[in-house]
Amino acid sequence: MRRLILLAIAAVGLIAAGEAPIALPEGFRGWTPVSSAQVGSGNPAAPKYEGLHTIYGNAAAIEGYKTGKWADGAVIILDQWTAEKTGPDASGQGQRKFIDVMVRDSRRYAATGGWGYTEFTWPSRDRVVAIEDNAAKACSGCHAQNAPGGDQVFSVFKD
Ligand code: HEC
Repeated sequence: MRRLILLAIAAVGLIAAGEAPIALPEGFRGWTPVSSAQVGSGNPAAPKYEGLHTIYGNAAAIEGYKTGKWADGAVIILDQWTAEKTGPDASGQGQRKFIDVMVRDSRRYAATGGWGYTEFTWPSRDRVVAIEDNAAKACSGCHAQNAPGGDQVFSVFKD
């Protein structure tokens, strides 16, 4: 019996070692919108971020925005769209370009300050594996150094 229990613990350990990558959070459009922004063609970030983006947080993330304490389970989405002219001096959403995801899990993502990062490209919804493999530098590298509120989150929830 004891051996069985030990084997079971070992198996759980193995599963944990090969943990599944971050999945596309379904239903995030029903989460709380945190903020929206427009990036124009003259911005240094334009090659990737030109257009409109909206940031969404799940319930745990909204708690984090309000308290500054980010609990495991917090998930934040940056939903990036192209901007299209909709009228004189007016623009609106065109096509979705990609979705960036941050997942709070202080144990699993200890190496990147407790946040896991990934990106899904559109319309294929494929995870951008190369970006995720390099996320510690590509994503966390910028967030960890530059996010003003600390703990790698840039956006601010203004009620
Ligand atoms: C050069 C700096 C930089 C890099 C690299 C970067 N980001 Fe960000 N990220 C930002 C900034 C600035 C914002 C805030 C945008 C806003 O407030 O509208 C942001 C916002 C976000 C948000 C919303 C939460 C927050 O911090 O406000 C997510 C999710 C996100 N980025 C994921 C990623 C992922 C995934 C990657 C890697 C593929 C990545 N980021 C790479 C600068 C960066």
